[in-house]
Amino acid sequence: MKRKTFLLALALLGCTLVHAQEKSPKLVLQMDKPGVTVSPTLYGLMTEEINYSYEGGLYAQLIRNPSFKDEVRGRGHQGWQPFFAPGKPAYWSLCDSLASDMMIDRNEGINSANNVSLCLNVKESDKATGIINDGFWGFPVRPKTTYNGSMYVKTDATDSPALTVSLESLDGKTVYASTQITGLSGEWKKYSFSFSTSDKVVPTKDTHFRIAVGSAGKYWFTRVTLFPPTYNNRPNGLRPDLMTMMRNMNPKFLRLPGGNYLEGNTFADRYNWKATIGDPDLRVGHNSPWGYRSTDGLGLLEYLEWTEDIGAEPTLAVFAGYVLNGDHLAGDYIKPFVQDALDEIEYVIGGTDTKWGAQRAKDGHPAPFKLQYVEIGNEDFFDRSGSYPGRFKQFYDAIKAKYPQLGIISTVDEKSLRGVKADIIDEHYYRDAASMYRNAFQYDSYNRKGPKIFCGEWATREGSPTTNMNAALGDAAWMTCMERNSDILIMASYAPMFVNVNKGGMQWESDLIGYNALNSYGSPSYYAQSMFGNYLGDKVVPVAGENIPKFELPQSKEEKQRGMNPSSVPEIYYVATKNSKTGMVYLKVVNVVGTPQKVSIAFEGDVKIASK
Ligand code: AHR
Repeated sequence: MKRKTFLLALALLGCTLVHAQEKSPKLVLQMDKPGVTVSPTLYGLMTEEINYSYEGGLYAQLIRNPSFKDEVRGRGHQGWQPFFAPGKPAYWSLCDSLASDMMIDRNEGINSANNVSLCLNVKESDKATGIINDGFWGFPVRPKTTYNGSMYVKTDATDSPALTVSLESLDGKTVYASTQITGLSGEWKKYSFSFSTSDKVVPTKDTHFRIAVGSAGKYWFTRVTLFPPTYNNRPNGLRPDLMTMMRNMNPKFLRLPGGNYLEGNTFADRYNWKATIGDPDLRVGHNSPWGYRSTDGLGLLEYLEWTEDIGAEPTLAVFAGYVLNGDHLAGDYIKPFVQDALDEIEYVIGGTDTKWGAQRAKDGHPAPFKLQYVEIGNEDFFDRSGSYPGRFKQFYDAIKAKYPQLGIISTVDEKSLRGVKADIIDEHYYRDAASMYRNAFQYDSYNRKGPKIFCGEWATREGSPTTNMNAALGDAAWMTCMERNSDILIMASYAPMFVNVNKGGMQWESDLIGYNALNSYGSPSYYAQSMFGNYLGDKVVPVAGENIPKFELPQSKEEKQRGMNPSSVPEIYYVATKNSKTGMVYLKVVNVVGTPQKVSIAFEGDVKIASK
């Protein structure tokens, strides 16, 4: 056996690797031993409408409550008495409540998706009269930027009624961009507009959107939208900064559309993909289980184009007949949902000669998307009725009959499937850093003959709203385990990915990427995952660790309950992979303690190493 020892200046997440000493930790890369193949889909992303991920997040549309479906709700002065103000639109206010009043008009709408409107009654007119939208905690105002908007309007005013639309400072004193809409009439009509900021504007989010009215009369509005520039300039598109951050992680797939969001609290609020495609003005929207409405402006096609734009492919989760309030359907009752799933797959990968492939082409994307994996439901281990194995089988058989090439993912483990065959099992782990260290060898002992594993949701939950450095260390230790075992662990996606960091924006603590209307940032976990995703070979190189020091963790709840001794875990976690074409070896080393470690690195086998 040939062994060469090198002192490498590598650093990753808390590591300082310095000159080796006697008995210091050593990592021996066994280049002469065969390593397993790294799954080409190992690192991906997971998404759903949570924490204002799309509305007020990735979906670039800026007007909050654009179709006036949300009415004011809140807490009374004493903080305990909930109130509901029927007829008062949430996130909209009057510029001048003496000169005008406003009310949601349930008899005036433009179509079944936008079946209500806002009626603004202007009694006296001056330039300041009109309505204001708060946006999602403000609007992003940047220099030299063009915003495109539209709205449906009608009026009974006869005195050459016109509107002025603007983005302005909260006190109304600074107008950043503005334009006029003319030609209003007594008939509903869609008006498109655009306005631009000057190159002198200092970026700010402390802004609102105003629609000012110049003459007395009644004005009805619905479906008011405003977009800043979008990623790849897609119409009805997505926020460039967040798209760039995702692309930079080098993800291979996007698990969509959830999560709980797939299931919904009730059947009416499940993810009904057919209601999310086509003209955005005709999408009804629905309630997210996370407590707010989704307009479904980011619908199935936008999801698919998102995957394409970040260089990934979709991992499609289909609604499987179980909703979060515990209701479920089975047997014959589930057949329409199985058909819905088949139609959905056809929309994603069908040729334009198929019904749903033709619909996709009509919606603007003739080319089929790539698809390898379909997941049946989400976290069905919460279904206490025991219906999942039966429901899963119905979906599995129907999908395999038509699309034998697809891998089908179960959301419960092999044992709970009670003999029903699945290709892949989705496992979810939300843990603290200590628990990640304890479990960083979990997959080493998994049965290689059983189904493959998809770690479809995982996170080290420390830090809020976004995770902290300790969480990143837990993540990194866990990723060494997943990567080393990527013959069986073929896909992994962290959750949740996004959080709007404004007060009221977060429903789930400890998220990967935070933002407000103007800015965004990655947590330490984001950078840990980007490093792992970007530096990856196609074969695992076995690594033998020598003299790896250990430290004692605080006793876990389980250890306390069972009267066990506290566990001790390694201070250093590691994994290596090799690109078999270029010969490049990637060694990832994670030092989870707060002191530098002296680590030497050796290679076994006939390897040549460049001197630089
Ligand atoms: O990631 C947040 C939630 O955690 C997901 O919606 C759900 O699948 C899981 O319980």
